Amino acid sequence: MIRPHLSVEHVTRQFQIEGEPLIALDDINLDIAEGEFVTIVGASGCGKSTLLRLFSGLDIATSGLIHHAGTAVSEPSLDRGIVFQEPRLFPWLTVEKNISLGLLNSKLSNARKAELVREHLELVGLSRFANVYPHQLSGGMAQRAGIARGLVSRPNVLLLDEPFGALDAITKAHLQDELQEIWAKENITMVLVTHDVEEAVYLGDRVVVMSPRPGRIREIIPVKLARPRRRTSSEIANVRDRVLKSLHATGEPPQSAPEGSQPADDGGHLERAVALAR
Ligand SMILES: Nc1ncnc2c1ncn2[C@@H]1O[C@H](COP(=O)(O)OP(=O)(O)OP(=O)(O)O)[C@@H](O)[C@H]1O
Ligand SMILES: [Mg+2]
Repeated sequence: MIRPHLSVEHVTRQFQIEGEPLIALDDINLDIAEGEFVTIVGASGCGKSTLLRLFSGLDIATSGLIHHAGTAVSEPSLDRGIVFQEPRLFPWLTVEKNISLGLLNSKLSNARKAELVREHLELVGLSRFANVYPHQLSGGMAQRAGIARGLVSRPNVLLLDEPFGALDAITKAHLQDELQEIWAKENITMVLVTHDVEEAVYLGDRVVVMSPRPGRIREIIPVKLARPRRRTSSEIANVRDRVLKSLHATGEPPQSAPEGSQPADDGGHLERAVALAR
């Protein structure tokens, strides 16, 4: 078995709402391999964003442990980039300055920071827009700037919370492919939360299906399909149907370790890089 790069062990997150305890996440266990692309789906309120915040270190579990590369996660780190549903760009800063915020706590020289910002503007196709302000961007361009800000510190994990949720179908498909190319090129571990089951299956090596109240992992479904994948293939449709069935299932989630709770053995990471490079 591959040693997990990100591991979640018996993680619970409890909040207080009007004096009453609310269990947002209940006994979550998940191992993610280096370079793996994991997608997370589940009904609204099942704790997806909470889990992503725990991964990032922006929030801390009530009990249980999260490790990244063998170290307990206790605070945000430049090694873990995060991209939110809305791009969260500062309107009074240019695109370039917004992206450089991803290097705010970095000890690199100003020259190296400027170089990294330039590289990442190029990576997301925004070189020509370095000096414009967010209101001059389309929704898709703003989201690309958000992705560049998440990537500019060259993290080895990128956490994405419904990054394409607000985009039209064509822009979304285009950005999904761009993200997949970046992933293949940079060998980044990706954890992407989405409401879109097709997106989860199209991009994921494994799809984590969560159930609400309390937030639990219901099932982990491997997507053993070579890349590049065809969105309209019958294999994708089969996995999508399996994910949908799991999402709509009622009753207790499986008590034993869900299938695929360990990183996939084959991972398919080399294979995907070769396939995408073609
Ligand atoms: N800071 C907080 N204080 C109190 N309760 C919170 C807090 N953050 C999240 N919760 C609660 O935890 C539960 C899970 O919230 P979370 O935002 O993780 O859900 P989600 O799966 O991301 O939902 P969505 O798909 O709508 O974004 C919700 O019931 C929410 O009310
Ligand atoms: Mg959320």
